[in-house]
Amino acid sequence: MNVAIDGPAGAGKSTVARRVAGELGYVYVDTGAMYRAVTLAALRQGIAPDEADKLKELIGTIRIELKPGEQGQTVYLNGEDVTEAIRSREVTLIVSPLAANESVRAKLVELQRELASARGIVMDGRDIGTHVLPDAELKIFLTASVQIRAQRRYQELPEDQRIPLAQLETEIAERDRSDEQREISPLICAKDAIVVDSSELTIDEVVAAIIDLSRSRM
Ligand code: C5P
Repeated sequence: MNVAIDGPAGAGKSTVARRVAGELGYVYVDTGAMYRAVTLAALRQGIAPDEADKLKELIGTIRIELKPGEQGQTVYLNGEDVTEAIRSREVTLIVSPLAANESVRAKLVELQRELASARGIVMDGRDIGTHVLPDAELKIFLTASVQIRAQRRYQELPEDQRIPLAQLETEIAERDRSDEQREISPLICAKDAIVVDSSELTIDEVVAAIIDLSRSRM
């Protein structure tokens, strides 16, 4: 089966999806990492999110690959390991407007569907249950209050990358707003998704709940 996990920024999707995939013996696919890799390529070439023609050209020439790695998944851009580089603040600040681009989405969705065709996939993102894998056997919409999400992200940031908590909260809320309001495949909860609010739950509890749901649908 395929499991789709969607939700807003910082809800814990990646950690949860990676662990669920590990326990089920499935392959984990982080689609946000793909949008981040395209964003890194655009930044390096000085292409802005609103330069549609240049983005169309860029997406036709770059190669993005995901391979199982030490931290769950290693991301390659034209053969270069960019797993860490795609997590930079620079990338995080413009990934959402860039992910609104039609050509970028069309190309990445095609890749994501290809990856999921063998089934046995846990895929996380924003539009997996609604658009990429509408037939996924289990769809989870993982959320938490914006305050909690900002606090969690804050604690994960290395000392030298710390920014004030209030600023982090504003940036997360802005990215959610941008993901929810874009025209193509906005972030919304699929009608047949199960909503899991992790505000009051530990990672272990969320993982256990999703594993139980997965097993009940096998
Ligand atoms: O999951 P992560 O926070 O790394 O995703 C980064 C950004 O990539 C999101 O804010 C969103 O703009 C975009 N994204 C998307 N569709 C997906 C996954 C991510 O638009 N399926």
